Amino acid sequence: MIWIFLGAPGAGKGTQAERLREDFGFVSVSTGEMLREAMRAGSELGKTVQEYVTRGDLVPDDLVAAVLRERLAQGNTGNGVILDGFPRTVRQAEILEEMLAKHCWQLCGVLYLEASEEVVLQRLGGRRNCPQCGANYHVVTMPPKVEGVCDRCGAELVIRPDDAPEAIRKRLEVYHQQTKPLIAFYDQRGILERIDASGEVDEVYQAVKDAVSRRWQKCLAGE
Ligand code: AP5
Repeated sequence: MIWIFLGAPGAGKGTQAERLREDFGFVSVSTGEMLREAMRAGSELGKTVQEYVTRGDLVPDDLVAAVLRERLAQGNTGNGVILDGFPRTVRQAEILEEMLAKHCWQLCGVLYLEASEEVVLQRLGGRRNCPQCGANYHVVTMPPKVEGVCDRCGAELVIRPDDAPEAIRKRLEVYHQQTKPLIAFYDQRGILERIDASGEVDEVYQAVKDAVSRRWQKCLAGE
């Protein structure tokens, strides 16, 4: 079973996917995190995507689809896979439909996290990221136990290069132009769950869990 997290940069997709992973035994696959890992490793892929990611542009569809295909081919899909950050364009959604048909995977639900621009700007402005294990924090709402240090692995936290004000502006522009059409795309298919993502993490998570339970029942019933 496949789940998609859709939403603006900073809406909380990664944070909520991590919670679902822990509670439901899902595997979270973040294309953004896979690309950052490649950049940290300095691989060919990392060098190719660095400029796109740093300036806040989308990586070309075929390239990011190939990265996802390779990851899913490895198996290890737990009780279901959460796609955090894929698809992001209508073309990517079409590629995903081809992949689903080919492997007989079922797209169970699309969880659309809705938050205002003011909210996402506050979240991105205070985010700190672990360059070693990928964990995310927020200086006010989700601070680490020791300031500037990752709770999980002890590495020094950093600000993501694409959380610079100019890159945030670009990412939001790209989101409005290229990703928002997916809301209608999945709404028409009857699998979109709108979730108010403006509240506190626990509050949003409750709504996410309710949506997953709802969709899960429908999915099992073949609806
Ligand atoms: P990606 O890493 O996917 O970035 P994004 O979509 O911009 O999303 P973010 O990671 O910024 O935000 P999020 O919604 O996960 O929020 P988070 O939980 O961290 O992609 C990065 C780049 O990779 C793209 O720009 C592109 O270049 C490339 N890329 C990736 N996928 C691609 C694709 N499919 N096609 C082409 N290119 C692709 O939360 C944000 C902050 O808020 C955190 O500090 C968190 O602690 C805090 N927070 C979260 N929830 C709450 C809450 N409820 N209350 C208070 N604080 C909260």
